[in-house]
Amino acid sequence: MPQTYQKPLTAENYSQEPLLNVEGVTLQYKTKEHLVTATYKVGFKVFDAERFVLLGPSGCGKSTLLKAVGGYLKPVEGKITLKGDVVTKPDSGRVMVFQEFDQLLPWKTVKANVMFALTTSGKLSKKAAEERTMAYIEMVNLTDFAYTYPHMLSGGMKQRVAIARAMAMEPDILLLDEPFAALDALTRRKMQEELLQLGEKSGFTLLFVTHSIEEAIIIGTRILLLSPHPGQVKAEFNAGTLGYDNQGQNEFKELLGKIRDMLFSDAVEEETISTKGS
Ligand SMILES: Nc1ncnc2c1ncn2[C@@H]1O[C@H](COP(=O)(O)OP(=O)(O)OP(=O)(O)O)[C@@H](O)[C@H]1O
Ligand SMILES: [Mg+2]
Repeated sequence: MPQTYQKPLTAENYSQEPLLNVEGVTLQYKTKEHLVTATYKVGFKVFDAERFVLLGPSGCGKSTLLKAVGGYLKPVEGKITLKGDVVTKPDSGRVMVFQEFDQLLPWKTVKANVMFALTTSGKLSKKAAEERTMAYIEMVNLTDFAYTYPHMLSGGMKQRVAIARAMAMEPDILLLDEPFAALDALTRRKMQEELLQLGEKSGFTLLFVTHSIEEAIIIGTRILLLSPHPGQVKAEFNAGTLGYDNQGQNEFKELLGKIRDMLFSDAVEEETISTKGS
């Protein structure tokens, strides 16, 4: 039976301080030859137990933004705070699953990869860490592969281990960069559902990157739409009442169409600019 997910309230209903506050953030990469501006003065707030989605075309700076929230990259302008503290470096309170594969330690089994981070923090006993590890491995459907090494797994399986590892740490905010993009449709759907169910159970806060509009609406309570490179905030949408069960309904389709039109108008603009410029 399909489940109905009770999504958290939208920002307007919150009175508390945001968990994550991104204010006027400009992010750049300096290479020998170039200075690449990845995002320009981007701002958004994420409240406790929200599932906030960053959506935008390839190269608009979604991964870069997520890396900055993770503490892997410092803004050249603006600031990022979590629970009021300025983010300066990676921390176990902000766990990230990167877009790239091969984030696992190749010399450790699936189980050891997930358990590693839990035991090094010293907060859990070995037994508790082991129990939690196996529960999350089961959640991503890899129990039969618990003692397998990463090189024997498919790309999608490796990604599921990385997701299990991040979730097992039960961080303040979970940063997921297109985590399901490489999965087949069925596994993707299952993982989306598991993620939503886990959100219900644990009440985690999620910052989720995708370029699928459907996925953004299903997963997100709010969606931030970014413009093409360099990424700037184009619009913000509430999707808190929409999930799987609403896919055929008008409200879902309208939001989908609205976001698609905005993305498409950007693409047309870009094409016009590049045609004029050539
Ligand atoms: N390490 C890097 N050095 C220099 N430029 C980079 C680096 N990483 C990303 N960029 C540039 O920054 C911009 C934003 O890249 P980013 O990876 O954040 O985009 P994205 O929105 O995640 O795209 P995609 O949807 O394809 O993953 C792009 O123009 C990219 O070329
Ligand atoms: Mg990316």
